[in-house]
Amino acid sequence: MEQRKGRRLILFPLPFQGHINPMLELANILYRKGFSITIIHTNFNSLNPSTHPHFTFHSISDNLSESEAADKDILLLLSNLNAKCCEPFRECLATLLSNVTEEPVACLICDPLFDFTQSVADSLKLPRILLRTGGASSTAVYSSFPLLREKGYIPKQDSRLEEPVTELSPLRVKDLPMINSSEPERFYKLVRALSYDTKDSYGFIFNTFEDLEQHALATIRKEFHIPIFPIGPFHKYFPAASSSSTSLLSQDQSCISWLNTQPPKSVIYVSFGSIAAVNEAQFLEIAWALASSKQLFLWVVRPGLVHGSEWLEPLPSGFLESLNGMGQIVKWAPQKEVLAHQAVGVFWTHNGWNSTLESICEGVPMICIPFSADQMVNARYVSDVWKIGLRLELGINRGEIDRAIRRLMIEKEGQAIRGRVSKLKDMANLCLKQGGSSYQSLDGLVNHILSLEF
Ligand code: UDX
Repeated sequence: MEQRKGRRLILFPLPFQGHINPMLELANILYRKGFSITIIHTNFNSLNPSTHPHFTFHSISDNLSESEAADKDILLLLSNLNAKCCEPFRECLATLLSNVTEEPVACLICDPLFDFTQSVADSLKLPRILLRTGGASSTAVYSSFPLLREKGYIPKQDSRLEEPVTELSPLRVKDLPMINSSEPERFYKLVRALSYDTKDSYGFIFNTFEDLEQHALATIRKEFHIPIFPIGPFHKYFPAASSSSTSLLSQDQSCISWLNTQPPKSVIYVSFGSIAAVNEAQFLEIAWALASSKQLFLWVVRPGLVHGSEWLEPLPSGFLESLNGMGQIVKWAPQKEVLAHQAVGVFWTHNGWNSTLESICEGVPMICIPFSADQMVNARYVSDVWKIGLRLELGINRGEIDRAIRRLMIEKEGQAIRGRVSKLKDMANLCLKQGGSSYQSLDGLVNHILSLEF
């Protein structure tokens, strides 16, 4: 813990699990660097202040109705949050800035997807720094959208999905980010928030490291003209067990006891993050693929994973008994601990950025089934750039899943892939050590914050 710096930082996470985790980890990193921390959060997916007694928490009302809060159209939900949080956020921030009994506030650190924060920060003359919770490679793709539209890659046409995007090799048209919504313009608004609109901020923090995404970081530095701070992987600044404190769902620890009884690298861990959902037919295809693989597996079936079902109802009766202890199903796992467990051999993932990075940091090869947004880019990088996993090109298809499991768990190819991901794991550890790229970038960020006028 470094000496207190006499400056306060205000952080404002987007209220989704994949965004809350890295923002709270960043808060802990900056607290250890000597800053005082205030977190502003929405009532929706509200945070629990008792998990971080060293921070000050302020909740704002988001005024979402019950049906708005439960909306499956994630872009509509985001749009409602942006419309309804602006004024409560402005009031809360103004009150905090007028409090002269606390340390002066150096800056606001927020998620670029809260698009009103730039104008609010400007009106209160507070510098705004952004945290990008996704990777640098996908961010570089978002910033290429004007070109991709001009060249006709976007909107995507079904007949061209397998074509290469020559300007962004090795991406194919199907890998370009997309989130479906009842109103397509909402997606382009999100693209602008992650690219063009960030250029007015005082800096961009990334949860990544130079050795992993050097090329994309160089592109971003060239295009964005603001200070860029790749200081990740955030979660490796702390022991794995401490991550539970930012989880919105309670993590089922019983799976760790089960993993303790399994041989090294024998278990396939399956999880598709906090948002992705499948239909009943896809769910059954996954279930049968796992059962017929004859490999041990730990499967996270989040309530809401299957459209129209509470939890496991679509499974045929007798399915669970037929597994004979080969498989465990939980609602939510302590994922970082699971990936760090010696029994886990492969991660079948949707390639959310946090999951991708967490897998790399533990040297676990991946089977990739991306669903939306940046996940398609992350999956292509895993399979074709870093070569540390296999992407399912046919969607959720039992035959292809079975082949991917065999290639990674049984065949020689799996060993080569494991060797490459182990090397990245070592690099991830090294970059945080004194003199490493993220270590230096974090020092740069601290000095940058201290140099801001307020
Ligand atoms: C979303 C997007 O999908 C992702 O692409 C974007 O970069 C951030 O927001 P999500 O889909 O939830 O996030 O995936 P991911 O980024 O992987 O984040 C999930 C987080 O939940 C991870 O930190 C993971 O460790 C945690 N998790 C997941 C658990 O703690 N337990 C689980 O059972 C599953």
